[in-house]
Amino acid sequence: MARIAIVGVGAIGGVTAALLQQAGGHELLLCTRKPMSGLSVETPDGVVTVHAKFVTDPCEAFEVDWVLVATKAYDVAGAAKWLDKLCSKGAPVAVLQNGVEHRERFAPYVALENILPVMVDCPAERQTLDKIRQRGVMHLKVPDSGLGREFVEMFSGTPADATVVPDFVSVVWRKLCFNSAGVLSALVLQPAGVVRDERMSEVALQIIRECAAVARAEGAHLEENVPDLVLAAQRAAPADSINSMLADRQAGRPVEIDARNGVIVRLGRKHGIATPMNSMAVALMETMTGKRLAVDQI
Ligand SMILES: NC(=O)c1ccc[n+]([C@@H]2O[C@H](COP(=O)([O-])OP(=O)(O)OC[C@H]3O[C@@H](n4cnc5c(N)ncnc54)[C@H](OP(=O)(O)O)[C@@H]3O)[C@@H](O)[C@H]2O)c1
Repeated sequence: MARIAIVGVGAIGGVTAALLQQAGGHELLLCTRKPMSGLSVETPDGVVTVHAKFVTDPCEAFEVDWVLVATKAYDVAGAAKWLDKLCSKGAPVAVLQNGVEHRERFAPYVALENILPVMVDCPAERQTLDKIRQRGVMHLKVPDSGLGREFVEMFSGTPADATVVPDFVSVVWRKLCFNSAGVLSALVLQPAGVVRDERMSEVALQIIRECAAVARAEGAHLEENVPDLVLAAQRAAPADSINSMLADRQAGRPVEIDARNGVIVRLGRKHGIATPMNSMAVALMETMTGKRLAVDQI
C-alpha cells in the first residue's frame, strides 16, 4: 500500500492510474493542469473508473511515497513545480517518458538517486479530458535497482508487464530507434503507412541507422540488423496508426522533437558521429512548428 501521485494524467498517466487502482490498496493523487472530477479508462479487459483525489494547484499537493511523472518531455519544467510538496519527505520520482534522458531532464529538480527512469510502451490515447483508450498491454521496464524493484512491486497483480531489466541503456535506445523514424510521419502529416513508400522507407532506415550508431557509442548493445528489424516493424504497423508526435502536431501542441531526434544529433556530436538525417528532421520540424532552437541546443 502506497500513497502515489501521478503528475500528468493524459494517455500514459491515465492508464497507469487505472493499473494502480487494479493493484488495490494504493491511494492515488492525480495532479492535472485542467480541472478533472473523474477518469475512466477503456482497457482491453473493460472500463476502469479511477477513484482518486484530483488537484490542479501544486500548493494543494502533499507528501506521498512515490511520484510518477507522465507529462510529455517538453513539459518537465511545469511538472517539476509539483515536486516540492510531493517529495517533501524524499519520495522517489519515476519518469514515464520517451527518449533516453529521463535522469538528465529531472536532475535540476530531484536528487539523482531518487530518479527512476521508466521505459513505457503502450498504445493509448486520450479521447476526451476524462476518457482514455488503452489499446494494448502496458510494458514498463526499469533498471534493476532497489527503486526499480519497488516500482515493479506496485504493479503486482495488475495486467501490466512491469519488469526490471539488467541493461536499461539498451532497452531505451532500442525504443528510440523505433521512435526516431516516427518523425517522418509527423513531418509529412500522414499516418504510419507513409513508410511503406520505398523512398520514405530508405529515409527512415538512414534515420534509424544514425540512431543505432549513437546508441552503440552510448553503450547500448544492439544487434547489427536492428535498423532493418525496426523498419520492418514500422512497415508492418497498421497503416492508419498515428504516433504521438503526429498527434501533437495535428493538435497544435509542441512536439517531442528534442527528446526523440535532437538527442541523437547532440549525442552524435559528442561522439563524432555524423547525423545528417536527424539534423535535417530537427531543422524541418523546428521550422514548421515555428520553434527554432539556438544552434548550440541541437
Ligand atoms: N501515448 C502513448 O501511446 C505513449 C506510448 C509510449 C510512450 N509515451 C510517452 O509517454 C509520455 C506521456 O505521453 P502521453 O501520450 O501520455 O501524453 P499526453 O496524453 O499528452 O498527456 C500528458 C499530460 O500531461 C499533462 N501536463 C502537462 N504539464 C503538466 C503540468 N505542469 N502539471 C500537470 N499535468 C501536466 C497534460 O495536461 P493538458 O491536458 O493540460 O495538456 C496531459 O494531460 C511522453 O513522453 C510520450 O512520448 C506515450
